[in-house]
Amino acid sequence: MKTSGLLLASLITLALGEPATPNLKLHEILEGTPGGFSRIGSVNPDQRLQLRLALPRRNVAELERKLYDVRTPSSPNYGKHLSKSEVRQLVAPAQGSADAVNAWLNENGVSTNMISTTGNRLSFEVPVGKANELLAADFSVFRHDDTGEEAVRTLSYSIPTELQRHIDLIHPTVSFPDPMDRLPAFQTHVESMRGFENFTARSVPSSCSESITLACLQFIYNIPNDAATKPSSNRLAVAGFLKQYANRADLRTFLHQSQPGWAEANLDTQYTVGIATSVPTVFISMGYSTIDAWLDLADFLLDQDSPPSFLTTSYCFQEHTISPKLARNLCDLYAQLGARGVSVLFASGDGGVSGTRFSNTCKSFVPTFPPSCPFVTSVGASRSVPETSAALSPGGGFSNVFSMPPYQAPRAVPHYLSALGRTHEGLYNASGRAYPDVAAQGVAFRIVVGGEERLINGTSASSPVFASVVALLNDRLAAKGRPPLGFLNPLLYSPAGMAALNDIATGSNLACGTSGFPAKEGWDPAAVTGLGTDFEKLAGAIGV
Ligand SMILES: *[C@@H]1O[C@H](CO)[C@@H](O)[C@H](O)[C@H]1NC(C)=O
Ligand SMILES: *[C@@H]1O[C@H](CO)[C@@H](O)[C@H](O)[C@H]1NC(C)=O
Ligand SMILES: *[C@@H]1O[C@H](CO)[C@@H](O)[C@H](O)[C@H]1NC(C)=O
Repeated sequence: MKTSGLLLASLITLALGEPATPNLKLHEILEGTPGGFSRIGSVNPDQRLQLRLALPRRNVAELERKLYDVRTPSSPNYGKHLSKSEVRQLVAPAQGSADAVNAWLNENGVSTNMISTTGNRLSFEVPVGKANELLAADFSVFRHDDTGEEAVRTLSYSIPTELQRHIDLIHPTVSFPDPMDRLPAFQTHVESMRGFENFTARSVPSSCSESITLACLQFIYNIPNDAATKPSSNRLAVAGFLKQYANRADLRTFLHQSQPGWAEANLDTQYTVGIATSVPTVFISMGYSTIDAWLDLADFLLDQDSPPSFLTTSYCFQEHTISPKLARNLCDLYAQLGARGVSVLFASGDGGVSGTRFSNTCKSFVPTFPPSCPFVTSVGASRSVPETSAALSPGGGFSNVFSMPPYQAPRAVPHYLSALGRTHEGLYNASGRAYPDVAAQGVAFRIVVGGEERLINGTSASSPVFASVVALLNDRLAAKGRPPLGFLNPLLYSPAGMAALNDIATGSNLACGTSGFPAKEGWDPAAVTGLGTDFEKLAGAIGV
């Protein structure tokens, strides 16, 4: 009842077009308490709150234009990535913005710290009572009904009218924690999965029908066995969150077995290190999983003079749990990384059309973010040979925040939509950025956890595999003195890119009590056009 009263108050505020305090203007608002959460009470007004404030970046559209210019194969500037200072100068916030924000907060007795190397995020600490007053907010305690996780959030906040052009967003405010933010690393004992797959076409070693090993992946994708030749020019970053650490002892056991904690971090590093032989791999553990970890990591990489050429991440959120402003803010950082020549890959989620995890209770399809950001390459899961969409239902669909990017709009996605017809009409947003972009094997990966062999399913397995394939392509490019592939999507969706990938045309990503999106010829959200992988064809497409 309290919640709907609050909502009503916000709606009235909206309807009158006039916020509670005369010189404040509504900045972000939720339609109601997010599903699964209940407001359980107010917060002691003296409790201190850590807030972060993002200043608007300049020239965001120009940055995107440059990104496409350096990454579109037909462009004369293809491969001419921007330097750290070029990106920085382009997008740095106006000095006036930091000054105006500091003046406002200092006047109210609040001091700020610059927390981002790109000069665009400030942090400040205020008592809850003060935050409510400054931002016309109602910070309250919300609890998630299933997980019991509690968070202090508000359903809306306002900022001074005259600061509108100086503030992008303030958080954590209207973005609630996502209780589903962790991709499940499905684990089973090796014995329980004997003979689960078919590898009938191409004479794939029969052991691959029991579990996927490095040797199977090398066979299925034509991945050469030889070690990388230019390791110094090519580094791969694997991001881990939630206090997961890649275990070096397990990695040694794995490599020892293959070349003749808990598992997500191990999975990512074991396959990236294993396939991308001697491509130096940096495992970055953030130790926390809020959206701040993603922002801080992107900031950190953008601050490097020569960042790793890859970032692969196997965690994601339900898109609707992140405010559109916050999602855009992070997605823009990935555009900056792309312009610097970094390929950013995300696993697409393991819940089919229900997002990160499988659910049949959703009323409409749930996209995952960051996979829905147009500047990342989103990786779905396949199984068997010939490849089909994995039965475990890889995440795939259409964003409600980001519109369809230019590399998808001319052919790939409209072709799918017209083949789909009216199926699932109203359950998804046909004008949105469609994902995933590629797929790779994601079922029954044999890995080592705590010294013991386990099998793992999920797009979390596929993303490091695809990253490794591209890392090896980068190695060949480096050997010819050519720049790394960077932001991959314009290449992947170009006619040469599409022709170099295996089409996956069977399977579907069921969830939400529906059959999900069916795979079809060409691009599709279930397991994606050919963007099943073939190393030698891809190498041919880029001429290495
Ligand atoms: C992994 O996928 C296989 C094949 O679809 C299935 O048989 C197995 O039960 C899955 N394991 C888990 C833990 O979900
Ligand atoms: C394996 O292939 C056979 C023959 O094509 C088919 O009947 C069977 O359903 C397949 N099994 C799986 C698990 O896909
Ligand atoms: C559909 O996606 C577009 C972006 O492509 C967005 O502007 C619009 O709000 C979305 N519609 C809904 C109902 O979410």
